[in-house]
Amino acid sequence: MAVAPSPAGIEIKYKKALINGEWTDAASGKTFDTINPATGEPICGVAECEKADVDMAVKSARRAFETGPWPKMNASDRGRLMYKLADLIEKNMEELARLESLDNGKPIADSMAADLPLTIACYRYYAGWADKVHGKTIPVNGPFHCYTRHEPVGVCGQIIPWNFPLLMQAWKWGPALALGNTIVLKPAEQTPLSALYVAQLAMEAGYPAGVINVVPGMGPGAGAPIASHHDVDKVAFTGSTEVGHLIMEAAAKSNLKRVSLELGGKSPNIVFADADMDAAVDGSFFALFFNQGQCCCAGSRLFVEEKIHGEFVDRLVAKAKARKVGDPFNKQTEQGPQVSDEQFGKVMGYIEAGQKEGAKMLCGGGRVGDKGYFIQPTVFDDVKDDMKIAQEEIFGPVMSVLKFKDMDEVVQRSNRTAYGLAAAVWTKDIQKALRISNGVRAGTVWVNCYDVFDAAAPFGGFKQSGIGRELGEYALEHYSEVKTVTIKI
Ligand code: NAI
Ligand code: MG
Repeated sequence: MAVAPSPAGIEIKYKKALINGEWTDAASGKTFDTINPATGEPICGVAECEKADVDMAVKSARRAFETGPWPKMNASDRGRLMYKLADLIEKNMEELARLESLDNGKPIADSMAADLPLTIACYRYYAGWADKVHGKTIPVNGPFHCYTRHEPVGVCGQIIPWNFPLLMQAWKWGPALALGNTIVLKPAEQTPLSALYVAQLAMEAGYPAGVINVVPGMGPGAGAPIASHHDVDKVAFTGSTEVGHLIMEAAAKSNLKRVSLELGGKSPNIVFADADMDAAVDGSFFALFFNQGQCCCAGSRLFVEEKIHGEFVDRLVAKAKARKVGDPFNKQTEQGPQVSDEQFGKVMGYIEAGQKEGAKMLCGGGRVGDKGYFIQPTVFDDVKDDMKIAQEEIFGPVMSVLKFKDMDEVVQRSNRTAYGLAAAVWTKDIQKALRISNGVRAGTVWVNCYDVFDAAAPFGGFKQSGIGRELGEYALEHYSEVKTVTIKI
């Protein structure tokens, strides 16, 4: 395979689709450019898969699910393959971190400290589950022996976004492969490179041909044919709520494939006056600005108790002004570019909307530099619940601060959104912590911390933030079917 050096001097080895264990061009011969968000320039062309390629990938996944070594493999051997994959990712950690930062724009320090370790831990966690998922023996009435088996669902379509490309792949592949499913993955068109690299490592680990297929391409071109495919048994999607609706509709109109969704959020982060102020300032800042603000669970509605509001906001603004924005490959950099021109434009549009609706912009608001998609860390104060910037997902380095007076008020206001992904509360008072934790309608609540992720702890949304849970034991439900067997004695 031809190897071309990228603008950052990184070799891009894998740019084709992986179908049935072979690196293949798209049937149409088309490619699309993946862009370096720090410069706006193309990194390389990548195979642009469409329906014909998806059909081939699904055929290959179906064949691997039904015949060959995969369905006969011992559960513990499926676990060993995944441990091998985790080891190979660890061995190639620096190269993968550089690839991720090149394609996504995230600071290399973040790729090394967060994305790669969490990815490796996720595969190791699910490797351990491979031979520990089992059914029950059930005492039914009459002369019968009744038991359940937890069988794989079958061919799983997986469509992932660009904000944590390696990690989203791990959240999807871990439970699917542990249980013996086969996969057709579509990485995001903005960030296909690390997924293809890991697919190569999976081949090296020894996954049989066809168990894992990767079809890079556009949403409508390659994602939609997966969601509507009659021979895909399940689709897992992470991305926008808007596309989440389309995925579910496509599943309903085709073959009622199983659907799990991880969608948007507008998560409340609630700071009481009695909180440890240093921890709350740092934690609230991190909750919003981490990963250029491109987190589904970003603490994007920061509710601060009125009594401490002035000082709290001053400290946030000082941090925002001091943040190091720039080249993702500089180890000191704290904030890189937004992922794409489209996202850059969208975030700038929200900054404009915030100003128009009368929120007070205390810092930021502009572009950084004249190339790439860098945005100044921006803080809005005096944000009201019904403003656009308090209702819609911004997905950028734009913080909205809202004031509150008491507990009941803040719980009600927290829940006044279509989303329900995450929430956090900062307080030293256990009563307040518990009342908020119980009162907010969200899949995850952090108390005196934020963005604490662990492969063992489930994650997912209430309401329009999604359906189902990823990570932990709970994710296994979505990748298995329960079969009841009754035998007459
Ligand atoms: P998106 O939902 O369009 O893209 C996510 C994935 O879905 C990509 O792989 C894309 O190719 C695919 N896709 C797009 N249209 C599809 C279709 N019709 N059928 C099947 N697959 C399709 O998200 P996008 O446009 O990248 O970002 C828009 C907004 O979505 C962001 O501003 C942010 O608010 C939100 N978002 C949320 C994420 C999360 O982690 N929950 C991740 C990425 C974006
Ligand atoms: Mg889109």
